[in-house]
This record gives sequence, C-alpha cells and structure tokens, in this order.
Amino acid sequence: MSTRVKTDLATARVPRYTSYPTAPHFNASVTGTTVKKWLEAIPADEPLSLYAHIPFCDSLCLFCGCHMRVVNTYTPVAAYADVLLHEIGMVAAALKSRRPVTHIHFGGGSPTILKPRDIARIAEALHTLFDIRPGAEFAVEIDPRGLTDATIDAFAKAGVTRASLGVQDVNPRVQAAVNRIQPLDVTQSAIDRLHAAGITALNVDLMYGLPHQSIDDVKRTVEAAVAMAPQRFAVFGYAHVPEMKRHQALLDAAALPGGEERVAQVETVHALLTASGYVAIGLDHFARADDPLAVALAQGRLRRNFQGYTTDDAATLIGFGASAISSLPQGYAQNVVDMPEYRRLILSGELATARGRALTADDRLRRAIIERLMCDLSVDVEAIAAAHGTGATHFSAAFDALQPFIAEGICTIDGARVTVPPQARAGVRLVCATFDAYLHPQAPAKHAVAV
Ligand SMILES: C[S@@+](CC[C@H](N)C(=O)[O-])C[C@H]1O[C@@H](n2cnc3c(N)ncnc32)[C@H](O)[C@@H]1O
Ligand code: SF4
Repeated sequence: MSTRVKTDLATARVPRYTSYPTAPHFNASVTGTTVKKWLEAIPADEPLSLYAHIPFCDSLCLFCGCHMRVVNTYTPVAAYADVLLHEIGMVAAALKSRRPVTHIHFGGGSPTILKPRDIARIAEALHTLFDIRPGAEFAVEIDPRGLTDATIDAFAKAGVTRASLGVQDVNPRVQAAVNRIQPLDVTQSAIDRLHAAGITALNVDLMYGLPHQSIDDVKRTVEAAVAMAPQRFAVFGYAHVPEMKRHQALLDAAALPGGEERVAQVETVHALLTASGYVAIGLDHFARADDPLAVALAQGRLRRNFQGYTTDDAATLIGFGASAISSLPQGYAQNVVDMPEYRRLILSGELATARGRALTADDRLRRAIIERLMCDLSVDVEAIAAAHGTGATHFSAAFDALQPFIAEGICTIDGARVTVPPQARAGVRLVCATFDAYLHPQAPAKHAVAV
C-alpha cells in the first residue's frame, strides 16, 4: 500500500462493526414490549451470554469514548447496583426458566468502582437466576488505579476468570495530557494481585493516537506491557469525536498525531507484538498463539460482538444497565443511556429499552459477511449468500465499489471471495462498508477515523 492510501485510511470515517446494522441505525421501533416477546421466544436450552454495564468512574480520562460518568461519592453507584439487580430479576422472569449461561462480561465505565458487597450481590443474583455453566468465561474490565485487594477478592469469589486492564500509554507526559496518571508499578501490582487471586487470563488495553504520543512512547508502552505477559492485547486508535464526547474538546487538538503518524504508530505496535509471539486478531486485537482467541481465529470460529473479538458463540447476548446493548436472535435492543430514566423505567416494572433494530433477512446476510470480514479478513460471499438463499449477484454493487480498493491493495477478489491482505488490515472497515446497506457515503461523518 502506498503512503497516500495509508493516510486515506487514517482519515476515512467508517463504523467499527461491532454489530450490523450499526448502533446509529437503531431506532425507536424496538421497545421494552418487543424485547420481552423476543426473550420469551428464546429456546430454554439455548446458552446465553450476559453483559452488565457499570457506567461510573472515579475520574475522567479526557480521551474517554465510553458511556460513563464521574462520581465523587458511592451513593449513586450503590443506587445503580440496586436498579441493575432489579433489571436482572425482570429479565430472568421474562425468560421463565433458569437459562444456561456460557459468558459473562462486566464493562464500563469501571466495574472496579463497585464495592465488594455489590459485586457479591450482583454475582449472587446471576448465579441464582441463571445456570452458569462449568467453564463459563466471566470477564471484567479493570481500572488498575486504586484497585483494592478486597475488590479483587470479591471478583475472584464471584467467579471471575478473565480481567481486561486499561493501560493506554506509559509515558507520564501523555498520561498527564489525558488526565490519567498510572505509574507502571500500579499496573504491575494489579496484575500480580489478580494472579495471586487466581484470575490468570489477562488482557491489556493500549491506545495510540493520543495527544503528545510519539512512536517512541508506543514502543516503550508495548515493551513494558509485553514484559507483564498478558495473553491478549486490545490496541485502540484514539477515536476523537468531541462533537459527541464534549470532554474530548479539553484535549489539545494540536498535540494529536496526524494520519501518517497514527499509521506509523499502529504499524509499530503490530511489528512489536507479532515479534513478541502474539498473533494479530482482526482489526485491533492480539493474542498468544495458544490463547483461545487465536485458536478460534485459526479454526474460523472467531466472533465479534459489542465487546470486540470473542470466542463467545452464544446466539443471544443480554445487556443489563444504562446504555447496554442486547443482541438477540430477533434483533438488537439498546437500553436508555440517561441514568435517571433507566432507573425510572426499571423501578416502574418496564424494561429500559430505548431503541434497537429488528433484523431483516438482508440484515442477517450482510451481518454474516461483515462479521467474517472483520474476523477472518476474508469472506466467501457466494457461500454465505447461498446459505441465506441468494447468490453473490445480490452484491454486484458492493463488488463494483470494491474495484478501486483492488488497485490500492486494500483487497483482492478471487471469484466471489473477498480478502483483505494482512498488510491492509486497517482497511477492513472500508471493505465492510461496501456491504453496508445503511451507510450513505455522502452522509456527514459521525464515526471516528479508520486507523
Ligand atoms: C471501559 S475502558 C476499560 C476499563 C477502565 N475503565 C479503564 O479505562 O481502565 C475500555 C477501553 O476503551 C478504550 N477507549 C476509551 N475511550 C476510547 C476512545 N475514545 N478511543 C479509543 N479507545 C478508547 C481504552 O483503551 C479503555 O481501556
Ligand atoms: S477510559 Fe476507563 S477509566 Fe477512563 S474515563 Fe473511560 S471508562 Fe473511565
């Protein structure tokens, strides 16, 4: 790929395809009543995946793109935990029986803000109301800053098996610029104590494209993080969307790396992590070759959901909490983002669904194509179309739109197989976008840059 194409990639605006249709195309047609019917229709023996959103943090990282709010006291968190428990009970009642669960994920915000007693109450409710299968994965997102032994102990007792630690960048100057001071020994101590508590499956989140971040910073960060030997990395390009996340406007925009620098940074991460024995997974993950994520990739079983790349193959993901998204066999449903409204709805006995999208046959077909591309960087369009009762000719417009990408080295087409070469991995979202029936190329960009 030429430098021009790489820079074009860095400035193109396309979704991350954690779902299809993507969240901006959800609407009010899906309500709590719809979701209740959808839940009731899920076969009783079908394994479920559960997600709980904890939208609170102790302090604000200025880059943050998550649904969260900063709190100075525990009172709103405790009140939220009560509502969350109520919602879990309502969903379990709608499901009518004690359903098998194979994956649990607590995300945020920072689930580590929960006090041990609330971690225990939520875990107890999940274990009582659901049949958490032996070997189920229970993952928690961890802010290493201020992580106490009591919190770790509570998560271990709750059955947590995997922890994702936010690290981002190790340079104190970058940390100061984004208001996230996290000395290396804080991260190391979190890792050591998680290990000691038996939580040994560890992921580390890193970021590039942060203000004042240089290639050297990225290098030092990767080296320091590799020395901590996590099994997986997620490496996110900073998504600067100050029109949606107003606090991001407090960052010094002049200090943000440009498109070419971002490309060089992500290439540096890729080179260092692959040289250190990690396998590149999809767009932005890395895993040790013997990690279940790398094994799933090798076996064509890798999946993508709202939490990123996963081995979770449950057809149903139920999201609890404000802003949480559920992916049910019938479609997507997102809870209301506003916390007082979330509380009001749940406490009045209604599910807190604000919007969503029922899937059409065409959505399912395009979703399958986009998921394989995002996971495998390659898809046999004919085979997937045939499995959905149509042919590759259904996508002649997409194949036409891909022609310029072939010349630029972003993809190859062999028969009806579309492949993104490993060196053009960053372009996979652009290739997916050609299969996205909802994306209007002229619409004002709401998504962050592609690299
Ligand atoms: C919910 S946080 C992880 C747990 C905890 N809150 C923390 O930050 O340590 C999820 C991850 O999203 C990434 N992230 C947050 N804001 C982002 C943004 N604007 N662009 C890209 N990645 C972002 C960070 O890598 C962060 O670790
Ligand atoms: S990056 Fe994590 S800790 Fe920082 S504000 Fe966002 S959710 Fe909170």
